Amino acid sequence: MKDEDQHDADSYHVPVLIEEVMTYLTRGGDGLYLDGTLGGGGHAFALLSACPGCCLLGIDRDPEALARAQARLAPFAARVRLLLGSFLDAAGDPQVRRDGLAGALLDLGVSSHQLDDDRRGFSMRPGLSLDMRMSLEGATAADYLASVPEAALLRDLRGGDAPRPRALARAIVARRGRRPLALSDDLVGVLESVLGRPAKHSEKARVFQAVRIAVNDELAVLEEALPALRDALNPGGVLVVLSYHSGEDASVKRMFRAWSDPGRGIPPKVPLRQHEMSALGETLTRKPVSAGPAELAANPRSRPARLRAWRKAA
Ligand SMILES: C[S@@+](CC[C@H](N)C(=O)[O-])C[C@H]1O[C@@H](n2cnc3c(N)ncnc32)[C@H](O)[C@@H]1O
Repeated sequence: MKDEDQHDADSYHVPVLIEEVMTYLTRGGDGLYLDGTLGGGGHAFALLSACPGCCLLGIDRDPEALARAQARLAPFAARVRLLLGSFLDAAGDPQVRRDGLAGALLDLGVSSHQLDDDRRGFSMRPGLSLDMRMSLEGATAADYLASVPEAALLRDLRGGDAPRPRALARAIVARRGRRPLALSDDLVGVLESVLGRPAKHSEKARVFQAVRIAVNDELAVLEEALPALRDALNPGGVLVVLSYHSGEDASVKRMFRAWSDPGRGIPPKVPLRQHEMSALGETLTRKPVSAGPAELAANPRSRPARLRAWRKAA
């Protein structure tokens, strides 16, 4: 890749833990891979470069990401098929059903481009309309904040680690009764009225993240997609997940553990048939892998990343 092409690619999104992702993912060997969160195509580019015997199904909900990845992966066009949609639907894709997957990658959350593009309304920067839709379709963050019942809002704020979730949910509902929340400043304003002081960057970030996760239904999609992707893997196939939020990482950890050690946590007196006891595969990462000092210095957005990998029994 030429230097200016690399710069262009990196300004869209710098792929996180790229060497570690490749080390685990390529243990699946040659065959069909899924990149369910294609973004700018950085991980996909690395996979296709490293593995001449691999082909790729790339999926993203975001049409802008898909267009960018298509340009970036043009040198590999003969081995690449791209789809606009959710990775939730990947296991039902006809090619996946026919050939099975050698590996699947989910690099969750949002890309740098989505965060940096003011039109997308993901950011807490002042004056942005509250949008946050990855797919550019459906209800925006402003619609969600205008209509979500208080109990569901509280659950979402708690799940997203927002500060003072109960008081914040109540204040959002009170505020929308007077005037809708339309801009990033409106959400920050309600948060600061609850805190009684200027909010720290990390506090605002957690509130915006909680709303984004709810608007895109990210936790429910992940919970449903993981078992479907496990079933779509061929024997020896690998599932790699990069999470950026404690709730996501907890789901991945719990599922990988249950699939690797199904008897765990079941009281000894409960009788189990033999096939229910056998492990479906092994967790390759005993602990989650996170970015080291050099990557953190070069790309601070890699800080929350947690990588977990699981391999289906051969
Ligand atoms: C962190 S970025 C991925 C970056 C990518 N690995 C790269 O190297 O450029 C996450 C991407 O996943 C997409 N995404 C999130 N949830 C999705 C879902 N359920 N289905 C498809 N794409 C999703 C987002 O639109 C975003 O483009």
